[in-house]
Amino acid sequence: MILSDSFSRVSNPYETPQLVSDYLFFHYAAFHEAAGDLPIPESAWGFAQRVVNELLDPTSPSSSALDIGCAVGASSFELARTIPRVLGIDYSEAFIEASETLKNNSFLAGDVPWEGRKTQSFVARIPADIDRQRVHFETGNAIDLRRDLGNFDVVLAANLLCRLPAPIAFLERLPDLVAPGGQLLMATPFSWLEQYTPPFLWLGGQQDGPASADVLQEKLSSHFRLEHEINLPFLIREHSRKFQYGISLGTRWRRL
Ligand SMILES: C[S@@+](CC[C@H](N)C(=O)[O-])C[C@H]1O[C@@H](n2cnc3c(N)ncnc32)[C@H](O)[C@@H]1O
Repeated sequence: MILSDSFSRVSNPYETPQLVSDYLFFHYAAFHEAAGDLPIPESAWGFAQRVVNELLDPTSPSSSALDIGCAVGASSFELARTIPRVLGIDYSEAFIEASETLKNNSFLAGDVPWEGRKTQSFVARIPADIDRQRVHFETGNAIDLRRDLGNFDVVLAANLLCRLPAPIAFLERLPDLVAPGGQLLMATPFSWLEQYTPPFLWLGGQQDGPASADVLQEKLSSHFRLEHEINLPFLIREHSRKFQYGISLGTRWRRL
């Protein structure tokens, strides 16, 4: 499967063992493991769980969910708390392998940078009250998903949009993926970077053009109604005293 001439699995940063460990930490480390005694905001930790719990409408009955760009799977497992059939898809084989290990064993150890060459060991664990057998994982490309995927009551795309080589191709597939009356949960910081997306394919982000949030609304509005909009902060730890703080725009859309 080919993403584009300039972006392939060989150059994909999400395939490296360090990124697997970093994402395991981002998705599963407890706040005290990440913060130690530093004054960092606890409300920005646990993004992979919050993106589900703050966007999902729990009053809508849902029997199936798709987590596209699932990385190492924490949002997929979180969806499985209330949804009996969850599929997590990611382009990275290394991330899907880690997700499968978590499904089978419930834990996976990793090492993340502490300072210089010193590292911190930790163990990612799936909470015992989540039925891991509800979740399945597979590799796939968000802009070229297999045609026989069917549709889902809930589709989650967390911090995926601005990592795609052609975000519009993904948006155009969404009406097929979300069942009528179903929910599309989207989170994105609109961090457009040439490294991932050629600038002419950014959805917004041009000096004299519209804001990305407005472009998103325009592209989705013929098939979806915007129902809920929130700010979703997240913290990615680089080392024990350095964190990347981002704020994704979180939205829930109802399929018309
Ligand atoms: C910024 S991470 C977000 C991961 C996770 N959803 C989260 O919120 O923590 C982007 C994820 O999208 C995946 N990804 C990038 N391009 C993709 C594509 N074309 N198809 C599917 N997944 C892709 C990456 O491997 C990575 O796991």
